Amino acid sequence: METMESLIVTVNRIQRACTVLGDHGGDAALPTLWEALPSVVVVGGQSSGKSSVLESIVGRDFLPRGSGIVTRRPLVLQLHKTEQGIKEYGEFLHLPKKKFTDFSMVRKEIQDETERMTGKSKQISPVPIHLSIYSPNVVNLTLIDLPGLTKVAVEGQPESIVQDIESMVRSYVEKPNCIILAITPANQDIATSDAMKLSREVDPAGERTFGVLTKLDLMDKGTNAIDVLEGRAYPLLHPWVGIVNRSQADINRNVDMIASRQKEREFFATSSDYGHLASKMGSEYLAKVLSQHLESVIRARLPGITSLINKSIEELEAELSHLGRSVAVDSGVAQLYTILELCRAFDHIFKEHLDGGRPGGD
Ligand code: GDP
Ligand code: NA
Ligand code: MG
Repeated sequence: METMESLIVTVNRIQRACTVLGDHGGDAALPTLWEALPSVVVVGGQSSGKSSVLESIVGRDFLPRGSGIVTRRPLVLQLHKTEQGIKEYGEFLHLPKKKFTDFSMVRKEIQDETERMTGKSKQISPVPIHLSIYSPNVVNLTLIDLPGLTKVAVEGQPESIVQDIESMVRSYVEKPNCIILAITPANQDIATSDAMKLSREVDPAGERTFGVLTKLDLMDKGTNAIDVLEGRAYPLLHPWVGIVNRSQADINRNVDMIASRQKEREFFATSSDYGHLASKMGSEYLAKVLSQHLESVIRARLPGITSLINKSIEELEAELSHLGRSVAVDSGVAQLYTILELCRAFDHIFKEHLDGGRPGGD
């Protein structure tokens, strides 16, 4: 378990390094490497509960949420598990060195940074915001929140927005290394779920799709989602997970995350419909399953990732020797050296995993 977790940490560091280098462009190896690294993408219709699910997984209140189109830029969220006793904080890639310990300020910064790119309009932008959260209470995981799929443009939006959002979401989920968290609200007809439609298209065998059913508390009295949650109605390779997030009324009343997780646990434990599934339902269970899955996917991809890193090292060395060691160390060159050092370190760590981390050794 120890070794497995450090694997995700390493991959997280590579993803950040790739992002930084990406700003300089030109080099093909690292973007390829980025695509080879698995991450979890949250997909679903507008107001299906995507941002709420992310918050529940993190166990903190920090995302803009609500009705209508709230998430207007991709949010790449890296969770880093720290030692107990360390105060949780968030850090944005665009504001390095600034530690946010007040999570309401994280939310404000996401809103401000969204507006910096899109204005106050309801426009969207494909340029991601990168946020890291360091906390003893999270599992190591990279999650990507995306704008919700929609069928109609609203006032102030160009007609093309429906297609633009779909293309943006598709560009993430069609990558074979993308793990899809397909969010469907239980109080709507699942047959028309945007999330299921798209995930079926890009992942017909359901191998990398996790079906998540939100709003179980809002289903009509006398109906339930047992057929879905037990895998009969919409079979996927991975089991479905049911969720109860905070309602808008809870949010307005400032019901905190601890209380809402408690409420969710009670919902399942005391439910006559779902009681027998209680241990496999809820946000905490979902976080655990996702982290375990991500670890196993990374483990399976290690040989491929290691060879890509080696290719990156060779290309970086070639590029740096071409630039010449004597050039004034501008920030671009300095960054290339940093990435090279990181790649060498990653290579070393991954090789250890390859040599020593055989199944059964954990
Ligand atoms: P997104 O647009 O998919 O990111 O959805 P949000 O997370 O912003 O949620 C949209 C609205 O649905 C908010 O008002 C949430 O409080 C509400 N909501 C989300 N999940 C649930 C749930 O499981 N139960 C209830 N009652 N409300 C929910
Ligand atoms: Na919303
Ligand atoms: Mg959202």
